[in-house]
Amino acid sequence: MKSNVFVPQEELDIQHQIAAELFREIRPRGLTFYVETFGCQMNVRDSETVKGWLTEAGYSEASEKDSADFILFNTCCVRDHAEKRLMGNIGALKELKDANPGLLIGICGCMMQQEGMAKKLLKRFPHVSLIFGTNVLHKFPEMLRDVLNGDRIAVTDRANDAIAEDMPKLRDNPRTAFVNIMYGCDNYCAYCIVPYVRGRERSRKPEDIRDEIVALAKDGVTEITLLGQNVNSYGNDGSTGMHFADLLRYVSDVPGVKRIRFMSSHPKDLNEDVMRAIAELPNVCHHVHLPVQSGNNEVLKRMNRKYTREHYLSIIERLRAMVPDIEFTTDIIVGFPGETEEAFLDTMSLVEEVGFAAAFTFAYSPRVGTVAAKREDQIPESVKKQRLHALNELQARKTVENNETYIGHIGEVLVEGCDERGADTMLYGKYQNFKMVYFPGCPELLNRYVTVKVTKTNKNSLLGEMI
Ligand code: 5AD
Ligand code: SF4
Repeated sequence: MKSNVFVPQEELDIQHQIAAELFREIRPRGLTFYVETFGCQMNVRDSETVKGWLTEAGYSEASEKDSADFILFNTCCVRDHAEKRLMGNIGALKELKDANPGLLIGICGCMMQQEGMAKKLLKRFPHVSLIFGTNVLHKFPEMLRDVLNGDRIAVTDRANDAIAEDMPKLRDNPRTAFVNIMYGCDNYCAYCIVPYVRGRERSRKPEDIRDEIVALAKDGVTEITLLGQNVNSYGNDGSTGMHFADLLRYVSDVPGVKRIRFMSSHPKDLNEDVMRAIAELPNVCHHVHLPVQSGNNEVLKRMNRKYTREHYLSIIERLRAMVPDIEFTTDIIVGFPGETEEAFLDTMSLVEEVGFAAAFTFAYSPRVGTVAAKREDQIPESVKKQRLHALNELQARKTVENNETYIGHIGEVLVEGCDERGADTMLYGKYQNFKMVYFPGCPELLNRYVTVKVTKTNKNSLLGEMI
């Protein structure tokens, strides 16, 4: 049985104290920050923490990058184009820095955890003052103080897997919130860099998770998304006394929480208990994001995914039998090393068979340090591109088919956004099972729950009216 390590409260107290000292200096100067986030929900959640610290230290959020006194990029490294994009973005800030020497520029996130990256970037971009990794967010005030004093620093601590509680956060949305239930990943899928940069899998304590949700609900949040690289392995190391299904039950009765979502799930350990929790708990949403990656058993094996196509399909079948309105979304990689045309066609046939509500599709991108990157049977880019195109065409057709089954559907929608560009103001939001619908309405309904009937579909989206 593993026991997790936590950042001692005394250490966090010191950081809060530093933030309070900075506040006295920064608030009167009216300084602002701008944080740009790349990548997944984990990064979005991390950015909320950094923005929380910046706010505690006296900064306020700028509406645009150009006017900010502190600009931070929170980076992703899951696929390689992210790196090229970041370099371009950082380079472009040189002019801003020249015009405003007081401007602080920082880079954080997964990419900074890659071997040698933080030091390399600090050297390459003299206009960048602060670089830090994902495991040192709890030291942010201290790092901020140092750069405000004129230092240029790169702080990454890849070995640190202590869980930090009691950090501030600044959220954008008053009704929905992300809550981490675990950090890191131990799965080592052969293509994936996450276990190398985010560290070992560790689960937060159930009480800390519940306390966070209670506080969010008191703050008006009604929709919670539980986050982890693989939420289904929550507590599998024995450190929390609970598995994921128990956790769902434990947090599902927090007053005020109408919807509980979770992502991502790994098919290898989405078990019967979790299925029952989804079916039985009234506020657990009927949507599972279940990355399949490939529909071919050989490829799945080489990807080190630890399940078969048949097992994957059986999860879908069992959940559909238990929860008739459930929707599935997925992630798929095409062109994994050694993927033959036949293997790719197995992915196509799986997509045809399952009928995902949506699929996030990617061409395999070799990541240095991963097992798959070392393979010699890499697939040419042109083939990856062709396969991606064919897969996207198929999924587009499946999305249309899926949408058509919703004509006449009536359900509650949480209004997430408002598009005022056309003749009518269009609102949009999701049903509990993640299907998005557009409908005419007034902007005052933003962040409220309304009942919407689907009247028609157009290509990618459902159109409806409030009833
Ligand atoms: N190349 C392409 N896609 C990848 N993903 C992860 N690593 C890679 C890679 N090296 C995709 C997977 C994962 C999603 C978050 O990103 O599909 O589920
Ligand atoms: Fe990467 Fe696999 Fe872990 Fe997901 S489960 S983060 S794909 S190693």
